[in-house]
Amino acid sequence: MSAIDYSEKIPNNVHLGDDRTLQRALEQWQPNFIQWWDEAGPEGSSRFNVYLRTAVSVEPSGWAHFDYVKMRDYRWGIFLNPGDPERKIHFGSHLGEKAWQDVPGEHRSNLRRIIVTQGDTEPASVEQQRHLGLTAPSLYDLRNLFQINVEEARHLWAMVYLLHKHFGRDGREEAAALLQRRSGDRDNPRILGAFNEQTPDWLSFFMFTYFTDRDGKFQLAALAESAFDPLARTTRFMLTEEAHHMFVGESGVARTLARTAQVMSALKTDDPAAIRAAGAIDLPTIQRYLNFHYSVTIDLFGADQSSNAATYYNSGLKGRYDEGKRNDDRLLRDQVYRVLDIQDGRLVDKEVPMLNALNEVLRDDFIRDSIGGVERWNKVLAKAGIGFRLRVPHKAFHRNIGTLSGIKMSPDGEVVDDAQWRARQEEWLPSADDRAFVTALMGKVAEPGKFAGWIAPPTMGVNRQPVEFDYVRFN
Ligand SMILES: [Fe+2]
Ligand SMILES: [Fe+2]
Repeated sequence: MSAIDYSEKIPNNVHLGDDRTLQRALEQWQPNFIQWWDEAGPEGSSRFNVYLRTAVSVEPSGWAHFDYVKMRDYRWGIFLNPGDPERKIHFGSHLGEKAWQDVPGEHRSNLRRIIVTQGDTEPASVEQQRHLGLTAPSLYDLRNLFQINVEEARHLWAMVYLLHKHFGRDGREEAAALLQRRSGDRDNPRILGAFNEQTPDWLSFFMFTYFTDRDGKFQLAALAESAFDPLARTTRFMLTEEAHHMFVGESGVARTLARTAQVMSALKTDDPAAIRAAGAIDLPTIQRYLNFHYSVTIDLFGADQSSNAATYYNSGLKGRYDEGKRNDDRLLRDQVYRVLDIQDGRLVDKEVPMLNALNEVLRDDFIRDSIGGVERWNKVLAKAGIGFRLRVPHKAFHRNIGTLSGIKMSPDGEVVDDAQWRARQEEWLPSADDRAFVTALMGKVAEPGKFAGWIAPPTMGVNRQPVEFDYVRFN
C-alpha cells in the first residue's frame, strides 16, 4: 500500500496509473521541470554521481534507499503518508466533521494560495543554493547540499501534484508559474522575501538550513493538520525529509564553531583579525550571520495580527504546530494572545484575539525551537573553554513585516533611532567586509576525507559510511 511504484515514469503511491488526466498534466509539466533544473539547479553538476537517499516507501522504518544517482535522474515523485479513511477535522468551525478528500468550493482560492506559497519556497531555495557546489568544503558537505537540493525539488513536485490533481486549469497555470519565477529576479521574483535573498557562501547556507528550513518545518507541520486530507498527508511526508535539512544546518554551524574554537585556543586570542588570518571565521561574524538569517526568517511567519490567519484556522485549512496535542477547545474564539505593540516609540505588551494572532503563535513556537540549537552551539564553545555565547537577537530586531517593522531595535532589545541604526548596523548584521572575507575563505575541497580549514570534520559519515567515503564522483 505504502510502497512506491518505481515502474512508472513518475514514482508515486497515489495510483497515478489510474488517473489519465493527472498523468497527462504531470507529463506535460515534467520537461519544463527538467529544463528549470538544468537552468537553475546546482551549477555544473549534471555528470556527477552522488550518493543520495531516495524515498522508496513512506513507512518510517524504511523509506530511504541510498545509492549513487545522477541528480537529473533522481526519482522525483509523489508520496503521501498513508491515509486514515476515518480521519476527522480536529480544529476550527468544522471540528468533528470528516476530513475533506476534495477541495470545498468556498475554500478553493485560500487553499490554492496556501499551496502556491509553500510550493514557491521549494524551487526558490534550490536557486539560492545554485552556486554553492563550486565552493563545497568537502565531498561530505557537497553531498548534503545536493541531497537537500533534490528533496526541495521533490517538495515542488508534492505541491504541483496537489495543484494538478485538485485545482483544474488554474492549478495547472499556477504549477507552470512555479517554474517561471526566480529567486531574486527583479521582474518575476519568488513570493516571500527570505527566498529572494542570496545564499552566497557556506556559512549562509548552514544558517539558512538551520533557520529557514525550520520555518519550513513549522509551516509544513501546521499544514499537516489541515482538514484538506491530501495536503495533510503530503506535508506530513515532506516533514520526514526536512529533518535532515535542519541537521545539515545545525551540524554545519557546530563544526564551524569547533574549528574557530580550535584556532582561538591554539593562538590564545579572541582577536577577529588574528582568527581570520589563521583561516577561521571569528565568532562576532558568525553572530552577525545568525542575526541576519534569524530576523529574515521570522518575517516569513507573516503579520503578527492577521485576519487571513484567523480565516485559515477557522475554516480548517491550517492548524497550529502540534495541533493534536493542544488541550484547549481548538476553536479559540474567546481566547487572547499577547503580542508586542509599539506605543510612543516603545514596545508594549498587548492582548489581542488569539485567532488573529496565529501567525505570532507559530512564530513563537519557531523561536522556542530554534533557541534549542543555539544552546547546543554554545556547548561547543563552552567545551572548548571559550566564554563567547551566541544569542538569537530580539524579536523586533531587523524586521520588515508586521507591527515590529515600525521600530528600529538593537539585537539586545534597545530602541535606536535611524542615525544610531546606520552607525551601528555593521556591528549587528554582516557587513560587506564580513561577506567578502567569508567568500574569500570558501574554496572547493574535493578529495575524500579532506576538509576546508575553516570547518571541522563531522563525527560520522552518511548512512554509516566513513567520513572519508567518496560521496560525490565527478566523472
Ligand atoms: Fe522543502
Ligand atoms: Fe528543506
